[in-house]
Amino acid sequence: MRLAPILLSLATVSLAAPANYFDDAYDFSDELSDFYAKVSQYISRVRKDTTPSATCDTSKIKLPSFALGLPAPNQTVPMYVALGRGTQNYTCADSTSASTPTAIGAVANLYNATCLAANYPDILESLPNIALKISLPTNEYATLPPANLDLMGHHFFTGATPEFNLDLTATQQFGIAMTKKGGQINAPDTAVQGKYGAVPWLYLSTIDGTVGKYKGVYRVDTASGSPPDDCTDMPSSFEIEYSANYYFFGS
Ligand SMILES: *[C@@H]1O[C@H](CO)[C@@H](O)[C@H](O)[C@H]1NC(C)=O
Ligand SMILES: *[C@@H]1O[C@H](CO)[C@@H](O)[C@H](O)[C@H]1NC(C)=O
Ligand SMILES: *[C@@H]1O[C@H](CO)[C@@H](O)[C@H](O)[C@H]1NC(C)=O
Repeated sequence: MRLAPILLSLATVSLAAPANYFDDAYDFSDELSDFYAKVSQYISRVRKDTTPSATCDTSKIKLPSFALGLPAPNQTVPMYVALGRGTQNYTCADSTSASTPTAIGAVANLYNATCLAANYPDILESLPNIALKISLPTNEYATLPPANLDLMGHHFFTGATPEFNLDLTATQQFGIAMTKKGGQINAPDTAVQGKYGAVPWLYLSTIDGTVGKYKGVYRVDTASGSPPDDCTDMPSSFEIEYSANYYFFGS
């Protein structure tokens, strides 16, 4: 099975992880134990499953049901699913309660979670909560633990435009989605809030400048990333760590 190596590496990482592997594991023990309980169930299921079926079938991928609150995609299945891990950036005009933070963009690495989405939606759904507690690898092109996902691109803002650049290397050219917001819903109450709340779930539609067949990008399963309600004691610019899953639709 194609997925087995991912699961085995998940198991290996969980056993091999040093005590300080997660930045703040103590706060996260419920989430982590739930996550690894699921992983071990899947590992035993995979061991029993002897069917040599294709294991990365994107036709099985569905947006989480909570995303029904966003405009529905026109395509039935996404092209790719990515785990995003990075920061939401904000500015404050001054450090008083009279000012509110202004969003100035996001910077995130995008890791290829397409096969995980096809086979293990439960793991995918909780992955941003785990990823939030993991610092990005110092080697830009390293895989992201604990699921050892491959880097597939970068998310950042070009001016005020949210960009998803999947032209990663000279040989890995998957195009660019330039987007604008087309819908937004508050993250569910169950989202990992971080200090100030989880950023909303979004539907982003593609605009001019897009390279490739991308039509829309959904940001779902968000963890943290929101700013405080006002600028009390905040510096003039600051970053809030976040993680989310991104679904790329196109034709
Ligand atoms: C679906 O297609 C219609 C017609 O082109 C368009 O108006 C609508 O915005 C699309 N919806 C999404 C979610 O992309
Ligand atoms: C946002 O924060 C990142 C660090 O996470 C930084 O590299 C980037 O320059 C910041 N971008 C803006 C527009 O402030
Ligand atoms: C993501 O991974 C799948 C499965 O390995 C692969 O087919 C696809 O090309 C990858 N997508 C990108 C954008 O790297």
